Amino acid sequence: MRPAIWHLELMDEVSSTQDAASRLAEGGAPEGVVVVAKAQTAGRGRSGRRWDSPVGGLYMSLVLRPSNSAQPQLLSLVGAFSVVLGIESATGLKSSVRWPNDVLIRGRKVSGVLAEASYSGKTLSYVVLGIGLNCNSRTSSLEGTQGTATSLLEELGRPVEVTNVRERILDEFRLVYTRWLDGADILKDAERFVGTLGKQVVAKAKSGAELSCTALELESTGGLVVLNQGKKVVLHAEDLEWLREEL
Ligand code: BTN
Repeated sequence: MRPAIWHLELMDEVSSTQDAASRLAEGGAPEGVVVVAKAQTAGRGRSGRRWDSPVGGLYMSLVLRPSNSAQPQLLSLVGAFSVVLGIESATGLKSSVRWPNDVLIRGRKVSGVLAEASYSGKTLSYVVLGIGLNCNSRTSSLEGTQGTATSLLEELGRPVEVTNVRERILDEFRLVYTRWLDGADILKDAERFVGTLGKQVVAKAKSGAELSCTALELESTGGLVVLNQGKKVVLHAEDLEWLREEL
């Protein structure tokens, strides 16, 4: 099944749209339900990090029930890739993906994507794909970003219409997601937007080990192929604490 149209659940404030969407999915909500909130009190990012979510940002979580359940981890890449396309379509701004799930403008993070999968035994039941985008926020007021973040407002010098940006991202996501479900090699398309490729990167594993390497290409399940001391190694997002691009 694929979402012909999105069914939006609009909320003023929630703890996290991820939790609200998961509850709906657990209750049987079909693919295409999207929980959107104006603000979140406990927005979260990867590795348990906080996602500061004041009014003015875009916070939404999509309920997905992909049939090609072999690669749900690719979804955060598809999400980030759609955010790049949606931002450009809504504002003309160019952005790029910092593998696996960040969207950067001029090296600063403007958006993050979080895919949370739920299984029944070994079968994928659903994925909740969360997208957070700094639209009209001043990043100096965002907790924990320490000068590493930006917003569409700060890049454009004027506020954006959040609903328009949201619609463009959902349009782009639907197109890429449908092509992915139909078996298209979306990795090749995604690679054009992954700014990480060709760069020197430092990756910190959840085990604490740090690896300094060169990012080469994406691997079929969405992993990042890197060159470390002359050897090719595949990094998997779920094993990493963070990945930084060297300037
Ligand atoms: C990251 O960069 O680590 C991912 C951030 C994902 C934030 C979004 S905002 C909407 C959805 N609700 C959440 O609590 N998190 C995601």
